Amino acid sequence: MKCMSIGSTLENVSRVALGCMRIESLTDKQADEYVGTALECGYNFFDHADIYGGGRCEEIFGGVLSRNKGLRDKIFIQTKCSIKQGEYDFSYEHIVSSVDASLKRLCTDHIDVLLLHRPDLLMEPTEVARAFDELYSSGKVKEFGVSNHNPMQIELLKKSVKQRLCINQLQLSVTNASMISSGACVNTAFDGGVVRDGYVRDYCRLNDITIQPWSPLQYGFFEGTFIDNEKFPELNQVLGELADKYGITKTGVAIAWLLRLPEKMQPVVGTTNLARIREISNAADIELERSEWYRLYRAAGHVLP
Ligand SMILES: NC(=O)c1ccc[n+]([C@@H]2O[C@H](COP(=O)([O-])OP(=O)(O)OC[C@H]3O[C@@H](n4cnc5c(N)ncnc54)[C@H](OP(=O)(O)O)[C@@H]3O)[C@@H](O)[C@H]2O)c1
Repeated sequence: MKCMSIGSTLENVSRVALGCMRIESLTDKQADEYVGTALECGYNFFDHADIYGGGRCEEIFGGVLSRNKGLRDKIFIQTKCSIKQGEYDFSYEHIVSSVDASLKRLCTDHIDVLLLHRPDLLMEPTEVARAFDELYSSGKVKEFGVSNHNPMQIELLKKSVKQRLCINQLQLSVTNASMISSGACVNTAFDGGVVRDGYVRDYCRLNDITIQPWSPLQYGFFEGTFIDNEKFPELNQVLGELADKYGITKTGVAIAWLLRLPEKMQPVVGTTNLARIREISNAADIELERSEWYRLYRAAGHVLP
């Protein structure tokens, strides 16, 4: 799999990351196979959050690290904090205690990237800065970023936070692409022209913030995958044609569509199916032609004025 760099220190990071939100019911043996298969295919970046499986997903992954000595040095681990039952919390106490709990569950002494999961509507940037300073100086966290943040929220954090914010993890797939379509439908009355995110795509590119598309194979808000879904006949027709052309699967083509974006995004895929982990890794080695990228975009229902 091709690699990329992220932030100031993350080099040779796999172009596709594996999201660990759905691993809570894996047995130890299945978890070892899941991580082992991922490594064989070239994935080396794993995305977590304190809330996935109520902490169980980090614990299961920590088990894999404990059983496989030397593995920790070969991979990047990202986790997130801020979501609590019914609220979001960027307080100093919550950020620091959440990271300590994640480190314990993950059986590691450091996290490569910490993301603020969703913007706390009561955020105090100075509190975040104090927490980040402590986590950085103690070596517990190497790099920082955000998730589901708009440009102004990032600017507000940057008023106080000294560390670079190198990642913004956002929902994006060929069917959920309002951050892309708003760029095509500027100043039109088409639905695609509605800016829902404060121009986050342009902002991240201008500021060297890597976008990590989450749920890259889902439509709606976790409604299911659009792959082989009868609600998306035209999209599946084009995905199938391109899959045949490149000798990969439709799932792979859907990921290749994201990888073709020039700013180099890092999609976070959530499958726990070993065959799909393999087939997605093949996508990282192909590059869709411009006309193919646009064909998929239109087949997903987006309008070009
Ligand atoms: N920052 C945030 O707010 C946020 C929110 C949500 C998720 N995330 C991160 O993003 C990661 C990915 O999210 P996601 O799991 O929703 O992403 P996804 O990769 O779009 O979806 C994965 C799901 O789709 C199924 N699937 C994939 N391809 C399929 C196919 N060809 N046919 C049938 N089913 C298929 C998978 O089932 P199988 O396992 O059976 O393949 C799995 O249940 C998460 O693990 C998490 O790390 C972040």
